[in-house]
Amino acid sequence: MVVPYTHEPFTDFSKDENRKEFEEALKKVEAELGQDYPLIIGGERIYTDDKIVSINPAKKDEVVGNVSKANQELAEKAMKVADETFKWWRKSKPEFRADLLFRAAAIVRRRKHEFSAWLVKEAGKPWKEADADTAEAIDFFEYYGRQMLRLKDGAPINSRPIENNRYNYIPLGVGVVISPWNFLFAIMAGTTVSAMVTGNTVLLKPASATPVIAYKFMEVLEEAGLPAGVINYIPGSGKEVGDYLVDHPRTRFISFTGSRDVGTRIFERAAKVNEGQLWLKRVVAEMGGKDTMIVDSESDLELAAESIVGAAFGFSGQKCSACSRVVAHEEIYDDLLKRVVEITEEKAKAVAEPNSANTYMGPVIDQAAYNKIMGHIEDGKKEGRLMTGGEGDDSVGYFIKPTVFADLDPNASIMQEEIFGPVVAFTKAKNFTEAIEIANNTDYGLTGAVITNNREHIEQAREDFHVGNLYFNRGCTAAIVGYHPFGGFNMSGTDSKAGGPDYLMNFLQAKTTSEML
Ligand code: NAD
Ligand code: ALA
Repeated sequence: MVVPYTHEPFTDFSKDENRKEFEEALKKVEAELGQDYPLIIGGERIYTDDKIVSINPAKKDEVVGNVSKANQELAEKAMKVADETFKWWRKSKPEFRADLLFRAAAIVRRRKHEFSAWLVKEAGKPWKEADADTAEAIDFFEYYGRQMLRLKDGAPINSRPIENNRYNYIPLGVGVVISPWNFLFAIMAGTTVSAMVTGNTVLLKPASATPVIAYKFMEVLEEAGLPAGVINYIPGSGKEVGDYLVDHPRTRFISFTGSRDVGTRIFERAAKVNEGQLWLKRVVAEMGGKDTMIVDSESDLELAAESIVGAAFGFSGQKCSACSRVVAHEEIYDDLLKRVVEITEEKAKAVAEPNSANTYMGPVIDQAAYNKIMGHIEDGKKEGRLMTGGEGDDSVGYFIKPTVFADLDPNASIMQEEIFGPVVAFTKAKNFTEAIEIANNTDYGLTGAVITNNREHIEQAREDFHVGNLYFNRGCTAAIVGYHPFGGFNMSGTDSKAGGPDYLMNFLQAKTTSEML
C-alpha cells in the first residue's frame, strides 16, 4: 500500500536555515557549471561535436552546460531502440513502473535544493519559483505513480454466466515528448514519466534553452532503476529532430507542451498517415494562453492587487498561466490600478540575478524572448497608457522591468497576443457580464480568475468564463498537481489536464477480452 498522495510542501525562505541550505546548493551547482553532457540512447552515452550551449539568462557569459545535439541519424537510432524496447517494456508490471517513480521522487526530495539551484542557473528562476518547479516535478512522480496503480486492473464491465469479460488499459507504443523551457523540470518530467509509467517508451526532446536539467532528471531515473532504452534523451533542434520524429511512421503519440505555432504545426503534421504507419497518431498539445483576471466592484481590492502582481510577474510572466490582462469594473478601476502600480514599483526594486531569496524577478529566457517582449512593450506604448516599467536591459542578462499598461481596447494587440513576459494590460468593464465577454474575447482559454464577493457572479463565471482552469479570489497561476488538474480550451490546447485523474488515459488504449465459459 502506498500512502495517500499529498502535494510536496514549499520551502519557507524566511527561515535562516532554509536560505543557508539553498546557498550551499547554489555553490555546489556553480562548481559543476560548464560541463559536457551526452545524449542517452539505449543507456549508451553519445557525445557529439555539435553542441547546444545552455547559458544562465541572468548572466549571459555563464555557461551552464554544453549539451550534445541529436541530428536525424541519431533520432532514428533512438527511435529503433525505443521501438525494440517497447516489445518487452509494454509487459512490465505497473507496480514496477510506479515504484520507480516513488523512488525517483525520494531521490529528488533528498536533493531538492540542488535541483532548484539548477533551475535558478538554467532559467533564471527566483528561488521561490524554482522551489515550486521542483516540488511540482516530485508531485508528478508521486501522483502519476498512484494513478497507474489505480488503472492497472482496468475498469469493471459486465460478464454473463456463459462468458467472462475484461476491460484493460494497455500502452500505445513509442511516444515523442517535446517540452518547453519555462517549467523546465516539472513539465519536462511530468510529460515524460506519464508516458513511461503507462508502459510506453519515450524519446525525450527537451527545450534547447534548458537541456541540462533534463539530463539531471535522466540520472535520477537511472538511479531509481529505469532500464536502458525506456526513455531516450535526445536534445536537438525543434525543426530538424522535432519534425523528423513527429512525421516518423513508428511514432505512436506526441506529447507536446509549448507555443501555439509549434503545437498547431505538430497537430497538422501528425494527422498525416505516412508510409508504413499502422495507426492514427495521438497528439497531446498544451499551448499558450492569454489569461485574464476579472476584478468585480464588490471585491477585496488589496487581495486583487496582490494576486494580479503575483500572477503577472512571477517568473517574469513566463508562465502559460500568467495574468496578462485585467478586466476591472469601472467603479474600482482607478483604485485598483493605482494599487497594482504601487506594488509593482516596490517589486521592481528587486529585479536582479536570483542569487538571494530577496530577488523578486529574474531575467527572461533569451535574446529572442527579450526582443519579442520589448516589441510588444513598444506596441503597448502606442495602444495604451504606460503606468510603470516599459524598460529593459540586456547588457548582462535579459532583464525587463515589470510593466503595467492601462486603458486598452479589448482588441488591442497586447490584449490579444501572448506576450510571455512581465507585462500586464488593464481594461475597464461597465458591469460583470461585460467583463466576462471581454475575458472570453481571445483565441485562447487556459486560465482565468475572478476576484469578487458576489456569490451570483461566482456562479455566472463558473458557467460562462470559458477557460480550463478558473480560480476565485486568488491569482490565475500556481496550479498544484492532483488539486488543480491543468489544461486549456480552444487554442490553448487539447485540455489533457496534466496532474488530473484522466491524464494517463492519453497514453493508454482500452482492450476488451471476452472468454466463453
Ligand atoms: P516552443 O513552442 O518554442 O518550444 C516548445 C518545444 O517545441 C521545444 O522543445 C522546441 O524545441 C520544440 N519545437 C520547436 N519547433 C518544433 C517543431 N517544428 N517540431 C517539434 N518540436 C519543435 O515553446 P517554448 O518557448 O519552449 O515555451 C513557451 C510556450 O509554451 C508558451 O506559448 C507557453 O504558453 C507554452 N506553455 C504551455 C503550457 C501549457 O500547459 N498549456 C505550459 C508551459 C508552456
Ligand atoms: N502549472 C502552472 C501554473 O499553474 C503552469 O502556473
